[in-house]
Amino acid sequence: MSKDFILASIDIGTSNTRTIIAQQIKGEENLRVIGVSSIPSAGIRRGVITDVEDIAKTIISAVEVAERMAGIPIKNAIFNIGGSDIEFANSKGVIAIGRADGEVCEDDINRVITESQTIQLPMNKEIVHVIAKKYRLDDQDNIKDPLGMKGVRLEVDTMVIESSSAQVKNISKAAYQAGIEIDDLVLEPLAAGVSVLTKKQKELGVVMINIGGGTTSLAVYEEGELLHTAILPLGAGHITNDIAIGLRTSVEVAERIKLEYGSAVIRDIDKKDGINLSLIDSREDGIVSRYHVAEIIEARLEEIFMLVQKELKLIGKAGLLPAGGVLVGGGAKMMHINELAKEVLGLPIQVGFPTGFGGILDKVDDPSFATVAGLVLWGHQHQVDEKREGLRNIKAFDLFSHQTGGTFDKVKNIFKRFLP
Ligand SMILES: Nc1ncnc2c1ncn2[C@@H]1O[C@H](COP(=O)(O)OP(=O)(O)OP(=O)(O)O)[C@@H](O)[C@H]1O
Ligand SMILES: [Mg+2]
Repeated sequence: MSKDFILASIDIGTSNTRTIIAQQIKGEENLRVIGVSSIPSAGIRRGVITDVEDIAKTIISAVEVAERMAGIPIKNAIFNIGGSDIEFANSKGVIAIGRADGEVCEDDINRVITESQTIQLPMNKEIVHVIAKKYRLDDQDNIKDPLGMKGVRLEVDTMVIESSSAQVKNISKAAYQAGIEIDDLVLEPLAAGVSVLTKKQKELGVVMINIGGGTTSLAVYEEGELLHTAILPLGAGHITNDIAIGLRTSVEVAERIKLEYGSAVIRDIDKKDGINLSLIDSREDGIVSRYHVAEIIEARLEEIFMLVQKELKLIGKAGLLPAGGVLVGGGAKMMHINELAKEVLGLPIQVGFPTGFGGILDKVDDPSFATVAGLVLWGHQHQVDEKREGLRNIKAFDLFSHQTGGTFDKVKNIFKRFLP
């Protein structure tokens, strides 16, 4: 088995850390999943790493489980970056075409994107993505990919996504302690979109909504282009806390009530329907109303969808995305969630499952695997692009420079092209 064809991804989540080890087999279109794991996370709150050592231990355990299944060790992986502390800036780059015959080559595209990232960064921010939105070649506007075209002056409009320096540094430290080198770092909502959205949905207009344990992230696409992305500091874990407070139970019991008896809508629930707490935990007693549990869940999910709607209003797309909404993340598995989302967002809604894989599929075929699946597909796409176009995929950062106390500014010089 050639090691070159192994790809791995690690999604550090507020509730769970997931790993996929995948193999690219010659002649097979889809990546084959050979190792999968999902273990509870420690050391992270609302997507923000709070304890590097705990996260490092979590990564080690998650990797071990996946490696055992795959029968091979991994040294590198593509990681997600979450946390609501992200910012955007629209930027521009301009260059003169390098070749004498004026043909745009990959180097020109890389140069113009690099040029666009020379922006004033806030003190505590790092660039994680520079996304090319459209190009202009001399007088010709709205070009999606100028490769091979001829001209003198190339311009690009980009969206620069920045994350907190502390978060980037902490992921880097945790990965180093866990002995895994970071191949690439991808913003969670962008990764999740890769595994569940089709090209057609992105063309028509779609919003991907990822309801995790501590955050809800979204990515909006239209005409194949990323219009907007956000990470909101509210997730399905807040529903559990609400139930624990509302019913005065432990968080563990509240979580089980949510998973076993929860519903996102109160409609159809008999008001007399009760949940016997002693059946969930022998230390608990009493009967709680299933209707009341659904009321709590509905209220919190409604709040989450209203915040998503606010983001859509911000970009003038509320109720205006023909391909509707695609729900992923563990929170998307709540019963009847699509009905509530449809009501609040006024869009057709479906729950998204990762596609584009062969191999051990039963575990990955789950909305909560959207991010980790998207990460490994992202790596695959960039590897393919690299081979096809000679594209240099610059690593998100250089671990070694952090460990030796080297220039952290190095990160700022790094860019990635996002191919829609
Ligand atoms: N079947 C289910 N029904 C309802 N909720 C569920 C179900 N399964 C998981 N969840 C909830 O999903 C949440 C975890 O989702 P997920 O694993 O996607 O989060 P995460 O990636 O760890 O967190 P984040 O992305 O916010 O950092 C938990 O709150 C969990 O209770
Ligand atoms: Mg997540």
